[in-house]
Amino acid sequence: MTQSLTLTRPDDMHLHLRDGAMLSAVAPESARDFARALIMPNLVPPVATLAQAQAYRDRILAALPHGARFEPLMTLYLTETTDPADVARAAASGVVKAVKLYPAGATTNSHGGVRDLDKIMPVLEKMAEIGLPLCTHGEVTTPEVDIFDREAVFIDTVLDPLRRRLPELRVVMEHITTQEGADYAAQGGNLAATITTHHLILNRNHLLVGGIKPHYYCLPVAKREKHRLALRRAATSGNRAYFLGTDSAPHVDALKEHACGCAGCFTATNTMPLLAHVFEEDGALEKLEAFTSQNGAAFYGLPQNAAKITLVKSDHPTVFAPKIQSAAGPVTVFDPGFAVYWQVQA
Ligand code: NCD
Ligand code: ZN
Repeated sequence: MTQSLTLTRPDDMHLHLRDGAMLSAVAPESARDFARALIMPNLVPPVATLAQAQAYRDRILAALPHGARFEPLMTLYLTETTDPADVARAAASGVVKAVKLYPAGATTNSHGGVRDLDKIMPVLEKMAEIGLPLCTHGEVTTPEVDIFDREAVFIDTVLDPLRRRLPELRVVMEHITTQEGADYAAQGGNLAATITTHHLILNRNHLLVGGIKPHYYCLPVAKREKHRLALRRAATSGNRAYFLGTDSAPHVDALKEHACGCAGCFTATNTMPLLAHVFEEDGALEKLEAFTSQNGAAFYGLPQNAAKITLVKSDHPTVFAPKIQSAAGPVTVFDPGFAVYWQVQA
C-alpha cells in the first residue's frame, strides 16, 4: 500500500553549507527538498559583516544546480567587535535574517565567538529595536560545567538573564537537546527553538553503547532518553515556538573518524523521510507541516512557500546513499539505525 503526504515545501532554519568543495557537494542536497535555509556563518574566517554575507550568498547561489529554486537566508556571526550600524544595514538589505551568537569555544569554528556579553549589548539593543532575531548556540563553555549540563546552565545563567535585560529581543534557541530547553522555549512569543532531525532520533546510548559512533557525535551532544522524548513531544506538538533546523553539519569522513573527531551530523540528504517516520511513529503526521514549513517562516516573518513537496511511503525500506562525495573527500549521510519507508517523490 502506498501512502502519500503533500506539504508546503519545507524550510531548514539552521544549516551549515560550508564553502568551496564542500559547499558544491552539499548545496544540491538541501536544494532538492528545501525552499529556503538559514545559513550558519561559522566559516573560517566567519561571515561577520554584511559584505561577507553578500559574498557568501553569491557563492551559495553559484553552487546550486541549474534551475534550483533555493533561497539562502543569511546570518552574521556575532563578535565582540560587531558594529551595530552594519547589523542594521544588513537587516535592511533583506539579505541577513538573523545574527548568531556562539559562546567562544562552544563548537566548530567558534573561537572568534563571544566571551563577554556586556561587549555585545549595543548590537543586541539595536537588534531588539529593529526586530532582528538572535540565534543562540545555547551552551556555556565553562570547563567546570559538565558537557551534558551545558544547555540547562546556559538557559539559567545566560539566556534568561539576557531576556530579562532586553525583553524585546527576538531569540531562537538553536538545536535544543534537553527537556529544560523545550520547556523554556514553550512560552513562545518572541522566543522560539529549532530542533534537529537527529536529536529526535538519538540519545546518548546510541552514541556511546557498543562502541563510539563518530557520525552520531554532534554539538550540543545527544542527551538521555527522557530529553529525546521531550524533544519529540515538542516537535510534534504543533506549538509555533518549535520548528525544524536540521543543523546538518558536514565534515569529511577523515575528520569524523578521527582521534579528535569533529562534531556534526550530515542530515540534509534524508531529513524529510526521517521526519515523516518520526512524526508517524508519534501519531502526529498532521503536525509535520507546521514543524517543517510553517512555524519557522512565521517566526521570521517570511511568507509561506508556494511550492509543495510530496512524501511517499511504500512497503520497501528506502535506500539512502550511505555517503555523498565531495572533492574534499566522502561525507557520511546520517543513518538513523532503523528502516525508513518514506521517501520524497522526485
Ligand atoms: C556544527 C558545525 O560543525 O559547524 N557542529 C555541530 O555539531 N552541530 C556547529 C554547531 O552548530 O554547533
Ligand atoms: Zn549548527
